[in-house]
Amino acid sequence: MLKKYSILLLTVLIAFGPSAPSFAQDGASQPLFEYSAINHPVMGKRGMVASHNALSSEIAAEILAKGGNAIDAGAALGFALAVTLPRAGNIGGGGFMLVHVAEQDKTIAIDFRETAPAAARQDMFFDASGNVVMDQTYRFSHKSSAVPGSVAGLAHIVEEYGTMTLAEVLAPAIRLARDGIEVTYDLAADLARSQRLKNNPASLRKFYKPDGSNYQVGELYKQPDLAWTLSEIAEHGVAAFYRGSVAERIVADMEAHNGLITMEDLANYEVIEREPVRGTFRGYDIAAMPAPSSGGTHVIQMLNILENFPLAEMGPESADALHIMAEAMKFSYADRSKYLGDPDFVKVPTETLVSKEYAKDLAAKISLDQALSSDEIAPGNLAIYESDETTHYSVVDSEGNMVGNTYTLMFSFGSGVVIEGTGILMNNNMGNFTLRSDIPDAFGLMGSENNLIRPNRRPVSSMSPVLVSRNGQPLLMTGSPGGSKIISANMQMVLNVLEFGMNIADAAVVPRIHHQWRPDVLEIESGISPDTVARLIERGQNINFSQRSAGMGSLQTVMWDGTLFYGYSDPRRPGAEAVGVD
Ligand code: DON
Repeated sequence: MLKKYSILLLTVLIAFGPSAPSFAQDGASQPLFEYSAINHPVMGKRGMVASHNALSSEIAAEILAKGGNAIDAGAALGFALAVTLPRAGNIGGGGFMLVHVAEQDKTIAIDFRETAPAAARQDMFFDASGNVVMDQTYRFSHKSSAVPGSVAGLAHIVEEYGTMTLAEVLAPAIRLARDGIEVTYDLAADLARSQRLKNNPASLRKFYKPDGSNYQVGELYKQPDLAWTLSEIAEHGVAAFYRGSVAERIVADMEAHNGLITMEDLANYEVIEREPVRGTFRGYDIAAMPAPSSGGTHVIQMLNILENFPLAEMGPESADALHIMAEAMKFSYADRSKYLGDPDFVKVPTETLVSKEYAKDLAAKISLDQALSSDEIAPGNLAIYESDETTHYSVVDSEGNMVGNTYTLMFSFGSGVVIEGTGILMNNNMGNFTLRSDIPDAFGLMGSENNLIRPNRRPVSSMSPVLVSRNGQPLLMTGSPGGSKIISANMQMVLNVLEFGMNIADAAVVPRIHHQWRPDVLEIESGISPDTVARLIERGQNINFSQRSAGMGSLQTVMWDGTLFYGYSDPRRPGAEAVGVD
């Protein structure tokens, strides 16, 4: 076996350069710029931004260049993406941010996830005979929206940790909405594809020309209603959105279309600062989102399991390494289905899920030669231990402040509902609740009674920025969209850098795999060789060879080695860009 690994190690060295693995092993401080790498990160001397929209990345980089900190830039980017990337950037959704505040040497997890309206009920998507109906109402209606948290979340970080005012960070977004943006290939294709936006009159007016036709590449696209909403927030603060003029329009539209969100729901919305869930991998520190996101807990759990195997020796993309990663994913997603929920309503055994001891026991169940079927794996008994769209961006400034934000409308363009007179596209994140424990959610994920619909509860999420630090210094911030695949994509970024010694560009580009326990299918991206696939199938992994998965996730990563800044936007989504500050 060892001899086999030595040969594989040689292959890795040839493919990724001799200096690469030394980064993982000795923590040297300058291993990130490698002439021999296949893909190269963008570099900067004073900061870095990576997001899914080039124009918005440039706006955030400009704020850094003018002396704003990463928090100012991160908030401005969040508002700008609501204008430039309407399929996912939003003020009508919610999400999770990690903020590293250099001066206070602390990392905070900001939960601005949507909450179920007070009138939401467990059976709200059931028919009269008690059957679950996943129809238009469930997916694309006013009822599919939970109370949005994005405005409160972005305002919160500016007020607590920024140097600029809320009005100042809103200014670029207001300008883009009012004066218009040039339609990119990405936006034109998105809108042409999303014909269901035409079902709602306010969406039709917002996203299409007066004659109902599509905007073409290069045309000017203005969003006057959204400009009004953003200006109200700039002038009157978050209260405009949650209690004032904007809230009134949201509630009037909800009342007119059987939606559940009330003035009281909006007024009661609260951003929650949480302690990040923490772990280690090969001596590096990991911080990520705790419940109600499952993202951080299970990235750490998978890394803990994988730490028990000599993956670097097996080699990146080798059948051995991919097989073990797939097995670790099965155990983690099985636990996710049972234990995750909103910690303000149910007890989530996070400490146990991320314990090294529990991971060791799970690792011992993994056989190198034979895959476990999902039926052989059940959520652990912890008692004995105790297109779809979302978007992520990462920002780092010259002081080492970092922001990672993953926020969403859930599906591409969310519920498709635009609130009359506001330009606000609403989320359909009620779809992340578990309707019944034998029925998967909108992303095929199983859940337990911990995630049933309850008034004011936050649905379990997979979204999580991930921060890697070394000796107390923040090193890398990453994150991704992709629904259930967010967790596996984030884990593979961390693994590719820390275990396989890749730079962040190679680490983002190499093909990924995904297994979420149920269904019992190992999804693979194109680029994994047929020989490798054959060896995985031989071991019992269920792979549908003819149906390779579309790109899994889209990692937006920044890295700081203490001197230089590195950034990389995953090529899996069009129009993304990392921009460095010199
Ligand atoms: O919170 C979640 O896990 C989902 N609402 C995320 C949706 C998503 O990532 C869709 N993206 N591509």
